[in-house]
Amino acid sequence: MTLSATDVHKTYRRGREQVHALRGVTLEVQRGEVVALLGRSGSGKTTLLNCLLGWETPDSGSVRVSGAADPGRAPWATVAVVPQRFGLLDELSLADNVALPARLAATADPRGAALRTLETLRLGPLAGRMPDEVSLGEQQRTALARALVVRPDFLVADEPTGRLDEELSTHVLTTLREVYAAEGTGVLIASHDPVVVAAADRVVRLSDGRVVDG
Ligand SMILES: Nc1ncnc2c1ncn2[C@@H]1O[C@H](COP(=O)(O)OP(=O)(O)OP(=O)(O)O)[C@@H](O)[C@H]1O
Ligand SMILES: [Mg+2]
Repeated sequence: MTLSATDVHKTYRRGREQVHALRGVTLEVQRGEVVALLGRSGSGKTTLLNCLLGWETPDSGSVRVSGAADPGRAPWATVAVVPQRFGLLDELSLADNVALPARLAATADPRGAALRTLETLRLGPLAGRMPDEVSLGEQQRTALARALVVRPDFLVADEPTGRLDEELSTHVLTTLREVYAAEGTGVLIASHDPVVVAAADRVVRLSDGRVVDG
């Protein structure tokens, strides 16, 4: 099972100006591997993830999950997301935020699954708090827990350790590898974090909308 982008082009138009955000990007993530997507700010990482998720439509090229389905229509249990801006629901506690995809997926014990996932990310004691009552790093890990609660086939995460210190980043990456990737989740992480790079099976580097070597 693979999540893939093939020769994806995406140009944004700002008035008369054109921004070539992606200039023919091909990328494949297999289940069970951790892939780091690197590149300077503005190199196209978020645009590529958004195309893979169906949140943006490529001008040309294609995105696929498992060689068939459109990932934009895939259920959360197939492709789960940690957006760069977290996207937690303000009115729900951390536990309820994390339980939500499990409820939608009709998981047996959504609340139990949420609490266990929060626990693995060291958020157990904060489960009852609201998002605005915790730190940005805690919000970020909650968004990660919300993605992982259904044990997805693929996890697409946009700088998911950007608000974490080195020790927590290391814990998160170890958990992703040893718990989730080990069980078959394919992980794609856009990041600048050396901890992510060190833990990845493979690094894909973007520069100015293209994949570059090294
Ligand atoms: N909605 C948009 N309209 C116009 N230009 C955009 C839009 N979104 C992104 N861009 C431009 O496309 C290019 C790629 O942006 P993108 O967000 O993919 O970069 P990034 O690698 O994720 O950067 P960062 O590391 O800062 O998150 C940038 O030049 C950006 O300004
Ligand atoms: Mg980005």
